[in-house]
Amino acid sequence: MKIEFHDSLDAVSSNLFARIVDLDDLPDDLPLAVAEGAAASRFKGKAGQVFDGFHEVDGKIVRLALVGAGKKKDAGRMAALEKAGAALTAKYLTSGEEALAIDFASGHLSAEESAAVLLGARLRSWRWDTYRTKLRDEQKRSLNIIHAIGAPDGAEAAWDDAQAVAKGVEFTRELVAEPANVIYPQSFVERCQERFKGTGAEIQVLDEDEMRTHGMGALLGVGQGSRRDSKLLVIKWMGGKANQKPTVFVGKGVTFDTGGISLKPPAGMEDMKWDMGGAGAVAGAMLALAGRKAKANIVGVCGLVENMPDGNAQRPGDIVTTMSGQTVEVINTDAEGRLVLCDAMTWAQQEFKPKTMVDLATLTGAMMIALGHEHGGVFSNDDTLADNLLAAGKASGDKLWRFPLAPEYDKLIDSPIADMKNVGPRWAGSITAAQYLQRFVEDGVNWAHCDIAGMVWADKPGATWNKGATGYGVRLIDRFVRDTVEG
Ligand code: BES
Ligand code: MN
Ligand code: ZN
Repeated sequence: MKIEFHDSLDAVSSNLFARIVDLDDLPDDLPLAVAEGAAASRFKGKAGQVFDGFHEVDGKIVRLALVGAGKKKDAGRMAALEKAGAALTAKYLTSGEEALAIDFASGHLSAEESAAVLLGARLRSWRWDTYRTKLRDEQKRSLNIIHAIGAPDGAEAAWDDAQAVAKGVEFTRELVAEPANVIYPQSFVERCQERFKGTGAEIQVLDEDEMRTHGMGALLGVGQGSRRDSKLLVIKWMGGKANQKPTVFVGKGVTFDTGGISLKPPAGMEDMKWDMGGAGAVAGAMLALAGRKAKANIVGVCGLVENMPDGNAQRPGDIVTTMSGQTVEVINTDAEGRLVLCDAMTWAQQEFKPKTMVDLATLTGAMMIALGHEHGGVFSNDDTLADNLLAAGKASGDKLWRFPLAPEYDKLIDSPIADMKNVGPRWAGSITAAQYLQRFVEDGVNWAHCDIAGMVWADKPGATWNKGATGYGVRLIDRFVRDTVEG
């Protein structure tokens, strides 16, 4: 979706106009047909409510949509404005209209508020039609440009910033939506190499031999049943002060999770193409940060593997030695995400000596049982870090909810034959997974683990996404970096 700025309506050719309307505050300069139509349709200006109006201008009928922005003074104002923009593109994406002119000239929105409308519009308009070769005309997207008319000073700059974030979210969605025969460790890396060209971010890739040299027996064990080689992808954006230690984000990138020898049942297994959603979020967030030239040193590390059963796959009961030197009894080959993350985390800590490390992972089905699709779960060894992530979640819409860590849970993954096993008992499955990861956090590192299993894929449309890949995590990381690392 292209977005262009213009001072006045004269500059654009469009048959579709839109105005943003606050709750119970219908503008008094509306054309009569639209004003009366809106009243008759009970249009009140609730956030995301759309009235599709028509009126006559110089003998021609043009479309004038009203979209609700909710209460003018509200803590959720920015989210409501995004929702308003999103409602417009959701409604008109396949309407036959090609251009939408949003009229900001009434001046009741600030530069940032105007950019929020555009961000919502852009995000909601994303589709992945690459493999749909037989779409009927009325199923195809028609809307391809938004004209922002009369937006206040500073709106264009605010949009440049927001657009970088939109591109990050879109990149994550693309990686998540692609099937596992297209996105596997090597092609994930290649897509990043392509996308980061010219951004100033630096990419480093470790292949299996290098990972073996580092002793990453847990990560390599997960990948050993796959024809696809595992990779460790590192994306560095050093936009901060030279002496500032980097903040590290680590993503689970299981490009397909069959469960391995502990094979998953067939129903719904196709969902496991998005078991790389943590890595996808990290890659998209890095693209956003580089795109908006964030004043921070940030490193993204993606552990990329495919979890397959074959003659060379690891077996339940195998014992692997992690890069940290700790040994793990692999009770269940389907608890593979933690095996990937632990070595990626050890490598990241040894390489970058971060003060703060946050991992994102579609780690446990139990997290979906607990939180559904409304929050990701966050676990942390540091209250300030947890609070900052919770706040970033609230502000960005990528919401989180905190869960506990405690020695009593940690005990549950002790093994009689190795240092630990990779699964605990049935109960508290998300917490024991987090306890496992915590065993790989080095002294002095503030660490948080985000279990985002319920968040990366949606079965129905949401505020700024359609069903499918949501892009969850990008805005969370971007907001956290803005407020906590840059701020
Ligand atoms: N990738 C899955 C978790 C998952 C399940 C994410 C469903 C999204 C939707 C993970 O690798 C996994 O299989 N976890 C197991 C752990 C169990 C074996 C301890 C689970 O949650 O069942
Ligand atoms: Mn699994
Ligand atoms: Zn998995």
